[in-house]
Amino acid sequence: MENNALSAKRDAILVNNISKVFPSRCGDPVVALDNINLTVKEGEFLCIVGPSGCGKSTLLRILAGLEEPTTGDAVVTIKEEGKPVNSMVFQEQSLFPWYTVKDNVTYGLTMRGVSKKEREQIADHYLKITGLTKFAHAYPHQLSGGMKQRVSVARAFANDPAILLLDEPFGSLDEQTRVLLQQELLKIWEGTQKTAMFITHSIDEALGLGDRVLVMTARPGKVKAILDIDLPRPRDLTVIRSQPRFLDLFHTIWFSLREEVLKARAEEIN
Ligand SMILES: Nc1ncnc2c1ncn2[C@@H]1O[C@H](COP(=O)(O)OP(=O)(O)OP(=O)(O)O)[C@@H](O)[C@H]1O
Ligand SMILES: [Mg+2]
Repeated sequence: MENNALSAKRDAILVNNISKVFPSRCGDPVVALDNINLTVKEGEFLCIVGPSGCGKSTLLRILAGLEEPTTGDAVVTIKEEGKPVNSMVFQEQSLFPWYTVKDNVTYGLTMRGVSKKEREQIADHYLKITGLTKFAHAYPHQLSGGMKQRVSVARAFANDPAILLLDEPFGSLDEQTRVLLQQELLKIWEGTQKTAMFITHSIDEALGLGDRVLVMTARPGKVKAILDIDLPRPRDLTVIRSQPRFLDLFHTIWFSLREEVLKARAEEIN
């Protein structure tokens, strides 16, 4: 989505002055987030990068309602009656081991009382797009790591939430699987135009997927920079990597992030 197209959209997520302090039993409290302000537009794909421990997951957990901010608030302004506000894909695997792939994908729909016929249709659609049709009746322990993450992504989209929150969903996967899943995610997202917030440590991934990239500072996490990713869509992830604009953006983000990673390292050593 181009910058001006984005600004014409309505607001989907408003983050107002959020700070988060975790009490600590041994030592000083941990200030994870410090005065975060952010607006995400409807249909926007926002990627977040920042050093390890800077509060990225904490921010997403606050948006998911899994954590309370110490000050400030986060509001999702595009809720739909009868639909969930958000679905989260976690950094670690989070499937129910006792449910089949299909039952994991339809879990949220079942909880909402969606009819069996409709659940089946939705699950079949997302299982097909994520290449899991043959594994619909398998259990998570019978799948590879990449397949489990595909189930998590299929489940999140099947749930049809107002916003999608993805916390390094492909972080633990090998490079080849990751690129394939990124391409699948892009395809599904382009078909649904869901508002999405996606945490990653990979600048390549952020540039391939995002409309904007938010760079966070070392802890306490603040908004350091927000960059528009003006690469045309639909994107072919292998093609855009060789474009001069991609390389420009990569360098800008890398230098911004590098400074923060070095600060975080220095803090760890002291
Ligand atoms: N429940 C908690 N209790 C105490 N401290 C916490 C809790 N959750 C997170 N923290 C602390 O808050 C800080 C931010 O953690 P968070 O998980 O948000 O970082 P992150 O940016 O997601 O890191 P990573 O990139 O490694 O996943 C860290 O110092 C962490 O130790
Ligand atoms: Mg995290």
